[in-house]
Order: sequence, then C-alpha cells, then structure tokens
Amino acid sequence: MKVSLALALVPLLAAAAPSPSDKHHSKPKPKPKIEGLGALAVKAGLQYFGTAIDNVVLDNKNYTSIAFNVSEFNQVTPSNGMKWMYFEPQRNVFNATLADQIVKPARKAGQLRRCHTFIWHNQLPGWLTSRNWTAPELTAVLENHIKAEARYFKDDCIAWDVVNEAFNDDGTWRDTIWLRTLGKSYIELAFTFARKYVGKKTMLYYNDYNVERVNNKSLAVVELVKDFKKRDIPIDGVGLQAHFTVGRSPSYNETSASIAQFNKLGMEVAITELDVRLALPDTAEKSEAQAKVYADTVKACVDAKDCVGVTVWDFWDPVSWVPETFPGNGNACLWTEGFVKKPAYYAIQKVFQDAAA
Ligand SMILES: *[C@@H]1O[C@H](CO)[C@@H](O)[C@H](O)[C@H]1NC(C)=O
Ligand SMILES: *[C@@H]1O[C@H](CO)[C@@H](O)[C@H](O)[C@H]1NC(C)=O
Ligand SMILES: *[C@@H]1O[C@H](CO)[C@@H](O)[C@H](O)[C@H]1NC(C)=O
Ligand SMILES: *[C@@H]1O[C@H](CO)[C@@H](O)[C@H](O)[C@H]1NC(C)=O
Ligand SMILES: *[C@@H]1O[C@H](CO)[C@@H](O)[C@H](O)[C@H]1NC(C)=O
Ligand SMILES: *[C@@H]1O[C@H](CO)[C@@H](O)[C@H](O)[C@H]1NC(C)=O
Repeated sequence: MKVSLALALVPLLAAAAPSPSDKHHSKPKPKPKIEGLGALAVKAGLQYFGTAIDNVVLDNKNYTSIAFNVSEFNQVTPSNGMKWMYFEPQRNVFNATLADQIVKPARKAGQLRRCHTFIWHNQLPGWLTSRNWTAPELTAVLENHIKAEARYFKDDCIAWDVVNEAFNDDGTWRDTIWLRTLGKSYIELAFTFARKYVGKKTMLYYNDYNVERVNNKSLAVVELVKDFKKRDIPIDGVGLQAHFTVGRSPSYNETSASIAQFNKLGMEVAITELDVRLALPDTAEKSEAQAKVYADTVKACVDAKDCVGVTVWDFWDPVSWVPETFPGNGNACLWTEGFVKKPAYYAIQKVFQDAAA
C-alpha cells in the first residue's frame, strides 16, 4: 500500500477547518462542499453513478469510506454475493451473508442497489452442474431459486440483472446448461418468474458485454426484446456492461447508437460494469486515453434518451477482476492503489458538471 499518498491528503483536510479569525464573523461562510460523482450524476440528470463492491476488502476502511460514500456513489452492485453459487450453495439452502454485507451498509448510506444476477452460466454451484436435469426439473430449480432470492431482496433492488451473458459475440445463443436443457425458452421463463416474485417497481434487465456497439451480438439482444414485446414477456431494460480496453473501445457515437437501438424499443438502458483496462505498465498517455474512454461512455449515457445510470466494476485497482483475467493488463479503475483519484475520475466529473451547467 502506498501510505505516503494517503497521508498527503491530511494537510488538505486540515486547511479546510475554519481559521480562528472566522469566529469573529456572525455568519461563518459555509465550507465549499466537494461533491462526488454520484451527487454530480444526479445533477446531470442520471439516477445514479455507482460501483460494484466485493466482499474481500470490506475490512479496509480506506476502501469502505469511499465505497459507502453516497456522494461519491449513490448506487452499488454486490459483485458476487447474489450469484447462484453463493446464494444457493446447496439445493434449497439459501445464504445471503455475502450479499447482506454490502446491501445493509448501502441501505444505511442511502445508496440505491442494482442486484446481480439470477441466471448466468458462470459461478454455478456443483450440485447444479454435476448432473443432468430433465426440463421440468430444471424449470422447478430455476423458479425455486428466483423465488427465494427475489423475495429475500424484494424492495432492495431498483433493478435485477435477470439473465446475464446469454449470447455469443456472433449473435448466436451461448451453449449453457440452461440452453441445453430448456432451449431458448429459459430466458423468458427467468423473466416471467422474476416478474412474479420481485418487487413491483424493480426493473428487469438483460445484461451483457460487447453490446456497446451496433453489432451482431447487440442485434441479437434487439431481436430478443422485440420478440418479448410481441409476446408480452416482461422486460424493462438492457444493461451494457462496458468492460473496455484502451485503444479498442467504442467511440461516443458507437455507444450512443447502441443505447438508442434499445431506447427505441422502450427499454431503459444502464451502463452496468464499466472499467477500462490498459496494457501495463501504465503511462501518462495511457491514463489520458483511459480518461477519454470513461468520459465518452458516461457522456453517451448522459446524452441518451433513457440511460438511467452508470456503474463501475469496482473503483479500486487492487480489487479489479482485470489483472487476473487479462494477464499483463490492469489499472482499469478510477482510484489508484494508493487511493488517489485518476484523470478518468476528473474527466467524468467534468462530463457531469458540463451537463448540469
Ligand atoms: C489507509 O490510509 C491510511 C492513512 O490515511 C494509511 O496509513 C493506511 O496505510 C491506508 N491503508 C491502506 C490499506 O491503504
Ligand atoms: C464523500 O465524498 C465526497 C466527494 O469526494 C467528499 O467531499 C466527502 O468528504 C466524502 N465524505 C466522507 C464522509 O468521507
Ligand atoms: C453463509 O456464507 C458465509 C459466507 O460465505 C459463510 O461464512 C457461512 O458459513 C454460510 N452459512 C451457512 C449456514 O452455510
Ligand atoms: C449427462 O448426459 C450426457 C449425455 O446423455 C452424458 O454423456 C453424461 O455422462 C451425463 N452426465 C451425468 C453427470 O450424468
Ligand atoms: C453477423 O451475422 C451475419 C448473418 O446474420 C453474418 O453473415 C456475419 O458474418 C456476422 N458477422 C460477424 C462478425 O459475426
Ligand atoms: C458522430 O456523430 C455525429 C452526429 O451523427 C457526426 O456529426 C460526427 O461526425 C460523428 N463523429 C464521428 C467521430 O464519427
């Protein structure tokens, strides 16, 4: 940990304290309030700017004081605790411990919650993947899981990612335990069960990556939404994960066009998992390029007809999923290891300030 950087903030805080001479004024000037990205996002017309939070660093006060600061993030998503392997580790045995470690302090802090995720092909428990199911059996398992989890978190969630990552990049359906056993109907089963059991106001989302451009994958999601609308299957929104890479990221126009194709179908959109990785080592140039990608993505949301908010997939580099998943890449988040805000932070701040002006 870079202690020196954190300590360097102390003199700044001390300077903000009222000086003795202030006492002579009957009405002391209010301290200028420095607003975080969440507060600025609301002024710019979004519902929220938020972050995913993982359980592994909840004992780090430097981390939690930012993570649960409603001015900085007025929305949170538990990174892991709501996934199947943690919430239903054994059949019909439910465990909300990890999720609650994030939901409870977030609720106390007045932060909105996005909930993630009912149906995915990853992070499934062994009892579910290690045997073959008949279609009626798996349907019952699916309903039982959604029912238990939806009811537990009933009014905690402004949105649920009902189904996550169901398509391949070429727009074909991903081969999963769900597709193999239930056919394409599994997605509508999941949304129908979700609608039945979650709170009335909770928005139901389809969530995926590489759908931030108009391409075969996002067009497959467009077809799914059209089909659902035609047949009255409930769906309210589409989440664009936005796991980006410096040098290969969608432009402002491309992201805007993808958001628009869903808005046109009456879907609200959210940027649900934004991070921007770069090839290590980092340089000032790469950090500036990263800042532009963050800003362009946030601006595409702010300018869209119905993009409700942006969530970053954690804000602190040491807990990012990137280095482990993409060796040689990293520094994808808004705060450095020493808890210093990066150029990307200030670029987003400027997007919000310009939009609110
Ligand atoms: C947290 O910040 C304090 C100073 O404010 C510092 O002494 C400490 O090392 C930091 N801890 C971590 C884990 O960064
Ligand atoms: C929360 O974040 C804002 C914006 O960075 C900051 O001004 C404020 O002091 C923080 N609040 C706490 C309690 O740390
Ligand atoms: C629930 O999960 C927590 C965190 O993983 C674990 O410590 C605890 O033992 C689990 N509870 C039960 C009853 O399995
Ligand atoms: C599941 O079914 C497939 C195909 O019928 C079979 O090859 C496989 O061994 C079965 N797996 C288990 C765990 O029973
Ligand atoms: C996109 O889909 C079309 C057919 O719908 C196919 O011809 C084309 O090769 C696909 N492009 C990519 C990049 O997968
Ligand atoms: C983005 O779209 C606008 C409006 O459609 C257009 O004027 C502009 O040239 C586009 N920019 C790029 C870089 O393609």
